[in-house]
Amino acid sequence: MAPSVAQLDSVTAQTVQKVATKVANLDLKADGPSYPFYYPYYDNDEKFPPTELFDHVDPGTRANPAKPNLLNLDVKVQHISPYLGTEVTGVQISELSKEGLDELALFAAERKVLLFRDQDFKDLSPDRQIEITRHFGPIQKHPTSGNVKGYPEFHVVYRDAQHDKFQEYLGGDKINQTSWHSDVSYEKQPPGATFFFILDQPETGGDTLFLSQVEAYNRLSLEFKKRLEGLRAVHSGVPQAEFSRRRDGPVRREPIETEHPLVRVHPVTGEKALYVNQGFTKHIVGFKQEESEYLLKFLFDHLAKGADFHIRATYKPGTVVVWDNRVTAHSATPDFSPTFRRHAVRLTPQAEVPTEATA
Ligand SMILES: [Fe+2]
Repeated sequence: MAPSVAQLDSVTAQTVQKVATKVANLDLKADGPSYPFYYPYYDNDEKFPPTELFDHVDPGTRANPAKPNLLNLDVKVQHISPYLGTEVTGVQISELSKEGLDELALFAAERKVLLFRDQDFKDLSPDRQIEITRHFGPIQKHPTSGNVKGYPEFHVVYRDAQHDKFQEYLGGDKINQTSWHSDVSYEKQPPGATFFFILDQPETGGDTLFLSQVEAYNRLSLEFKKRLEGLRAVHSGVPQAEFSRRRDGPVRREPIETEHPLVRVHPVTGEKALYVNQGFTKHIVGFKQEESEYLLKFLFDHLAKGADFHIRATYKPGTVVVWDNRVTAHSATPDFSPTFRRHAVRLTPQAEVPTEATA
């Protein structure tokens, strides 16, 4: 049967759209991102339902502590600091078995930040990228950031001469743009093992700072630790949503505020971590305003000043950074000229409801 006019119109429209997309992609490719598929996409009509609670069994709990499926004789590991950070070469995340991925979860929990070099991860299909990272938990769909059309699981980080959201978010009159946070800690089940892969990067700069919230906790006196344990703090997604609304961006899910323990226990290592971050932690439950501000200021300063439990994660083409977002905070370093493009993608599996530490 001959196609109707409506069908022809639809086919024509699709063809025009495909050609337009192709031309746009070619333009982007010529002087644009190396991976135009991941160019940040915003659709203000995109809406997500509230995030639902789920049972989480951390893959790290199933892992063989010797990690024979992740770290064989061909794999080189180089620690960056005694407390956190390990560079790994000689293994492809894409080729790991389920057991290997379990061991990766354990290794990320132990070392807190892993820098996998020379990965083919960025060249896998988006479905495969999502499949691998889903091993660690359901992927958080970000309520406000750029994502990828049809793939809301991707959180896109993008900066070039025309786009500098970071500068907009922090304001232009700051002395520095360091901004410590743990990703989306306002979620009832904040992320655990988090994957971040680089697509385009400046010649130098654009590193990510990481700190160990475990070592930050360990540095405190016994008496101070006792005071913190049992306290809870409010983590809020409201400022992030309000920022997006102000600049006509999407708010795909209504923001929430969640109480989390100030000291949480990692489900795999049993380590205690100081679970506050300047980006999202707003108030200590049960404290009066000045008391809360006083204590949070001390804790934020302690985290930020502890250069002896910080590292810089550097990027090379093919780098995939995996960090355990439950026991680390991080900050971007937007220190490079805006004439450079920095383009990266995050996949953010969620983990358990934080477990409160008991003395
Ligand atoms: Fe982040």
